[in-house]
Amino acid sequence: MRTIKGLILSGGKGTRLRPITHTSAKQLVPVANKPILFYAIEAIRDAGITDIYIVVGDTKDEIKAAVGNGSALGVKATYIEQEAPLGLAHAVKISEKYLGKEPFVMFLGDNIIKDGIKNFVDEFRSEHPNCQILLAKVPNPSEFGVAELDADRVVRLVEKPKIPKSDLALVGVYMFDSTVFKAVNNIKPSWRGELEITDAIQYLIDKKFVVRSHTITGWWKDTGKLEDILEANRIVLMALEPRIEGSVDSKSQVAGNVVIGEGSEVKESVLRGPLIIGKNSKITGSYVGPFTSIHDNVLVENSEIEHSIVLEGSTILNLGARLEGSLIGKNVVLKKNFSKPQAYRFMVGDSSQVEVY
Ligand code: TTP
Repeated sequence: MRTIKGLILSGGKGTRLRPITHTSAKQLVPVANKPILFYAIEAIRDAGITDIYIVVGDTKDEIKAAVGNGSALGVKATYIEQEAPLGLAHAVKISEKYLGKEPFVMFLGDNIIKDGIKNFVDEFRSEHPNCQILLAKVPNPSEFGVAELDADRVVRLVEKPKIPKSDLALVGVYMFDSTVFKAVNNIKPSWRGELEITDAIQYLIDKKFVVRSHTITGWWKDTGKLEDILEANRIVLMALEPRIEGSVDSKSQVAGNVVIGEGSEVKESVLRGPLIIGKNSKITGSYVGPFTSIHDNVLVENSEIEHSIVLEGSTILNLGARLEGSLIGKNVVLKKNFSKPQAYRFMVGDSSQVEVY
């Protein structure tokens, strides 16, 4: 069997997810209380690849602290430092000395593919085209890299076309053999100053290398934006196995698939799943509704919340209205203020978004 390596891109700027990405890597935002990046590592591992290289940038310390040597996830992780986010093809270029001559699967560290990638990797392994890309039909192709096909042969790739020739977007998983290094060493930066992976693949097409595509029908998400993270959270929570390790008092009601982690306490509250609560969190006199992920050491008191993600150590207290469609960072305090004058008082970081009614 051919050995295939994994390459996960976990650098980047994450501008679309500020302010979360001012202090944290976007790939570590948890979906159903598990970092997005772990879904990528598991998908690659489940396709039979355990030798994984992770491209990291400014947030390298945090990513290394979360993944370590990979053994907890059943893989061997090696880190490749990218001095600046100069493009997906630049990340490939700097990885050449680690990947050598072996074929590899490149996975964008902020993408989640619900049904995994095993079948595609098996096909790549047995049929060895020079490149295999995954495509998915999308309603808004002009926001993606778009492929034009002739049967399953890719003829052209266009990055964010104004008038798309198809509705097939590039999914963030690519398979390459070592011919891709020739491509990334021959292309020039685009107008935005990045070495584009679409240009590298177009180079392979133009030089008559075999570039195949596979259209996926299952659920897939690039979680670069808030609404995409919330949708990913919703989809992953729908498949949740219920498990209650913390305590729920007799005045509380729990319905649907609910996970409550060790040391968490639910008192006088209504929980309507699917939802997950991490460890050592306290929910008192509150309603937690569907599609909500509450991380560890969170306090929710006298409040209502649904379709949201709350990260570690945050407090939500006496909110007068229901919180929904929200991503709350770490150690955030949201509370009603009973003192006079009755007014909104914010201390909000750069690039935050607050909507009140
Ligand atoms: P993108 O989401 O395309 O880029 P970004 O992370 O800079 O985000 P934004 O557009 O919001 O500023 O990147 C896809 C993935 O690839 C993501 O996990 C970050 C990673 N990446 C790198 O590792 N190196 C790079 O040079 C780039 C551009 C992205």
